[in-house]
Amino acid sequence: MHLQYASKYRTFKIKNMKQNILITGASSGFGLLVASALHKQGHHVIGTSRNPEKYASRLPFKLISLDLDSEQSINSLADRVFAEVSRLDVLINNAGFLVSGIAEETPVELGRQQLETNFWGTIKVTNALLPQFRKQKSGKIITVGSIVGLVSFPNGAYYAASKHALEGYFKSLRYELKEFNINVAMIQPTAFKTNILDNSSNASGKIDDYNQLRVKIEKFTNNLVTNAGDPSIVAAKVVKVVETENPQFRNIVGKGTYTLIHLQHFAYGILEKSVLKQLNS
Ligand SMILES: NC(=O)c1ccc[n+]([C@@H]2O[C@H](COP(=O)([O-])OP(=O)(O)OC[C@H]3O[C@@H](n4cnc5c(N)ncnc54)[C@H](OP(=O)(O)O)[C@@H]3O)[C@@H](O)[C@H]2O)c1
Repeated sequence: MHLQYASKYRTFKIKNMKQNILITGASSGFGLLVASALHKQGHHVIGTSRNPEKYASRLPFKLISLDLDSEQSINSLADRVFAEVSRLDVLINNAGFLVSGIAEETPVELGRQQLETNFWGTIKVTNALLPQFRKQKSGKIITVGSIVGLVSFPNGAYYAASKHALEGYFKSLRYELKEFNINVAMIQPTAFKTNILDNSSNASGKIDDYNQLRVKIEKFTNNLVTNAGDPSIVAAKVVKVVETENPQFRNIVGKGTYTLIHLQHFAYGILEKSVLKQLNS
């Protein structure tokens, strides 16, 4: 009972504490919703975009520049952040994009770009801010992965690879940062209505042997898009993780996700059959 009160008190305390928060990719989709919600709660939010000048006048929070594909941009990120705040409580790694397409039809260069942005860009940003977190002996790193970091579907092999890589990396990092009082958590959403498809890159080359599969995949994807959820659900989950003192590592959001995860671990054959059934229906 005592422990329950203590944990409720800690959640209350952290909820009412104004935190300095950096969120990457805050011009659109989840990032925009999360940044707006946290700003509304009274936190000091700094968002990032590759083109902050395009959005800055419309947003209530500060937007600074960051391009995950530019070494120079990442190397100078800490200077831009600490020109705004003297300490950082939370880093939310949210920026990313989608490469979709049948794996063999996707040029390896495009696949490499997917990993470069979603995986390496995120790791480099984290490394750029870790010295400050270690110095403070406190901090929280929340990374937006995906359900496809845990389970893969057809037509997005490189995207799934980038999100699986993030899972493995941050799972390991979480142990290493515990002694510095730096918490590491991930958010794993299913499909939600953001601008991710409009901003995606697609394989352009076509191999005739895949023509039949392509038609099925198109139907499968249209279904996924129609049933995609309201992204404010994801934003609420991220806010909750920000305001929880010691959040758990895995934070799955979306319809049917627990079934998917259980099938993945305990009945992979059934999961595969169910995906193929949907694809062929
Ligand atoms: N929507 C979904 O169903 C879904 C599901 C699971 C996971 N996710 C993940 O959620 C995160 C946010 O995506 P979203 O769905 O909100 O998509 P979105 O609406 O397209 O937003 C993507 C954000 O990332 C930024 N960004 C993209 N490429 C970048 C780069 N190279 N350097 C710096 N910033 C970059 C964009 O900012 P600028 O263009 O202004 O630079 C934008 O703010 C991504 O990591 C995505 O993989 C999405």
